[in-house]
Amino acid sequence: PAPGWSLSADVVVVGSGVAGLTAALRCEAAGLTTVVVTKARLDDGSTRWAQGGIAAALGDGDTPEQHLDDTLVAGAGLCDEEAVRILVTEGPDAVRRLIETGAQFDETSEGGLELTREGGHHRRRIAHAGGDATGAEISRALVEAVRARGVRTVENALVLDLLTDAEGRTAGVTLHVMGEGQHDGVGAVHAPAVVLATGGMGQVFSATTNPSVSTGDGVALALRAGAEVSDLEFVQFHPTVLFLGPDAEGQQPLVSEAVRGEGAHLVDADGVRFMQGQHELAELAPRDIVAKGITRRMQEQDAEHMFLDARHFGADMWEHRFPTILAACRAHGIDPVTEPIPVAPAAHYASGGVRTDSRGRTTVPGLYACGEVACTGVHGANRLASNSLLEGLVYAERIAADIAASHAETGLHARVPRPLPYPETPEHPLLTPEARFTIQRIMTNGAGVLRSAESLTKAADQLQQLHTDARDALAENGKTAEAGVDTWEATNLLCVARVLVTAARLREETRGCHWREDRPERDDTTWRRHIVVRLNPDRT
Ligand code: SIN
Repeated sequence: PAPGWSLSADVVVVGSGVAGLTAALRCEAAGLTTVVVTKARLDDGSTRWAQGGIAAALGDGDTPEQHLDDTLVAGAGLCDEEAVRILVTEGPDAVRRLIETGAQFDETSEGGLELTREGGHHRRRIAHAGGDATGAEISRALVEAVRARGVRTVENALVLDLLTDAEGRTAGVTLHVMGEGQHDGVGAVHAPAVVLATGGMGQVFSATTNPSVSTGDGVALALRAGAEVSDLEFVQFHPTVLFLGPDAEGQQPLVSEAVRGEGAHLVDADGVRFMQGQHELAELAPRDIVAKGITRRMQEQDAEHMFLDARHFGADMWEHRFPTILAACRAHGIDPVTEPIPVAPAAHYASGGVRTDSRGRTTVPGLYACGEVACTGVHGANRLASNSLLEGLVYAERIAADIAASHAETGLHARVPRPLPYPETPEHPLLTPEARFTIQRIMTNGAGVLRSAESLTKAADQLQQLHTDARDALAENGKTAEAGVDTWEATNLLCVARVLVTAARLREETRGCHWREDRPERDDTTWRRHIVVRLNPDRT
């Protein structure tokens, strides 16, 4: 169907986490009419779930240069040093502005910011809020600011595709909106600048720390629009996710790195610490190393999980410093005050995404990306802990500045969009909602923490079969499934899963969070470079 309703603005921001809401607030403050569209409610994305905090060189004796060094080491040779330099030098002021916007971080008794440590950081530089509820506090402050400043928002709005004009420039987005009164069904927001801040794609795997909305919609949209996407093979698996059983699916409770930062130990099935001797930082090594250490020991012991032991914190510390984690563990019958916590790695963060320059511009004119959906070059092959909220903040501010500068220079002109081929084409058939679970199982078995040519080839074949079946059903019946949010999500998951597996097959080495059992070494001669993917935007 053609869009049934439309709105117009200077800027449409897609997504309402730290990146999206920061971009919206800054665009609005620059006098640009801004609409925020978001798939569920304003605070339903990944930001709300962030525990550990936000990293920035804010402590005595710390410097952006040291933060840069730690970020580059974690990124395993693939960070864009200039992008990281921007992050670490602009980061401290961006955090101060977030505080001015209303976010309340935990303070020391002297009134300074209380800073913790996480994996890969050589210093205490992680600011946190509510103990382990940092994302929830940031989300609260930004949602309140957006409401107070009257920024227009449309909730329950799943983004479908980018609209472009005859010259390929951004003209807006189409959306599928549920239950929002006058803007119900498929509609469009016309705008010459679109900021993608749709978050990650953790739902491509069976077990993930990501909420159910993280289905790779922004990356899929960008691919269909012909934008470049980079580094998709680098999926970060968080080392310590509460283990709820071998068949647990969907979002799993995180046990923050900050618990290790405050002195918790990883122990195996025999109660023996195993990260010492593997890295100078032991339990606080970069998270790819800890995830590998855990997975290896699980294999050696034929165990389904390891344990995180923080009994020595005592009840007081647990209650005050980690109330969210304590409550999540107790809700699942585990009391970390008296027993070690069963943990295993689970999909956590997409280090790659839609490729941008240092101003957040993608390769499609007028299309920007920030936050987890973007690949700014900051994370390389493995993101350093707590750099994601910071990246969202810093690059969202840069995007708003760039859009405001274009506006001041040439004005933002509405563009006439070309019609889109809705709802299905043979190259992009829709999947039935149930395909989501099939994709998750294929990806977990074939492209999870441990990968090999064999496992990836099998996954690629199975994903191709899903695509072929949908294409055949379309040819036979004229459509495959009722167009609805679940259908679009399953379709987007397949789109990003296929590209992820293609990149993971190509990268015949082990680097950062991409671990190939059949190629266990890092190969700097061939592979100190990025895999960039671009699809044909004409969908032929
Ligand atoms: C955590 O609290 O362990 C997560 C931090 C992050 O993903 O950066």
